[in-house]
Amino acid sequence: METRREVKPGLGELFSEERSADVVCASLAGSPDPRTRRVLESLVRHVHSFIKDVELTEREWEQAIAFLTATGHKCDDTRQEFILLSDVLGVSMLVETINHRAAGGATESTVTGPFHVVDSPPRELGADISLPGSGEPCLVSGRVTGPAGEPVPGALIDVWHADAEGFYDVQRPDPAAVGSLRGLFTADGEGRFWFRTVVPRFYPIPVDGPVGRLLEAMARHPYRPAHIHFIVKAPGYAPVTTHVFVEDSPYLDSDAVFGVKESLVRAFPWVDDPGRAEALGLPNPFRSAEFDISLRADAAARA
Ligand code: BEZ
Ligand code: FE
Repeated sequence: METRREVKPGLGELFSEERSADVVCASLAGSPDPRTRRVLESLVRHVHSFIKDVELTEREWEQAIAFLTATGHKCDDTRQEFILLSDVLGVSMLVETINHRAAGGATESTVTGPFHVVDSPPRELGADISLPGSGEPCLVSGRVTGPAGEPVPGALIDVWHADAEGFYDVQRPDPAAVGSLRGLFTADGEGRFWFRTVVPRFYPIPVDGPVGRLLEAMARHPYRPAHIHFIVKAPGYAPVTTHVFVEDSPYLDSDAVFGVKESLVRAFPWVDDPGRAEALGLPNPFRSAEFDISLRADAAARA
């Protein structure tokens, strides 16, 4: 008959399948920082519960370690494969959404993405940021306002986007292209901004690494719907990182990184108005999108 071994005094609770998470969490008791302890405890409990749920095999565990190792090896100064992994699993969007709850009609935020890698050149309002001779000409305009609808004169509007073939400047072989399709604008006295460009195309996220293999394993496509990135800042207001999405773009309902929010989708209709086109310096007809930005008061002002 099996005899039950007495737990020797001083040995404490030993590891078992049933008590695994409790035992590891008990080892965190000495963490001096309560937030570190809370985060690690929850992480341990969720990971243990996940492993029990799927009954992870040793082979799967080895595959997971190899996958994460390859993800690390793919990272360098310009490529962040771990962020891309976080993006395709919806983690980046969840963190973004929790941390920037846009109450009261403020513009919703979305992911920054990996292409905000060079400083946008400061430009005059109305400047053309496109590469010469490429794509459907487009006017993008809007107004930056605060929580009470007040204009925010002098707001800084940083924009960057892919071209009509779905490439960012930094993906083009020609180094002279860097800085095109980007601009740092200063809103006028009424918070208004406008610039000329071309309508961007949808494009694939980088798939030449482990994240690409993961997408294949999930039978998921790598595309993001056409969009223009914005970071808008002004003293006294919380900055917002967001996009405007092109309403007739494919993949709006299946963005590879889950970045689409309905409030950020805009029509880019054709405008046939030779006088206006000439005044703006655009060919006629041209496409036009309006994207107003409503900022929240910054945390200090809210407090
Ligand atoms: C982007 O929109 O630039 C982007 C966002 C997440 C992953 C890859 C690209
Ligand atoms: Fe993008």
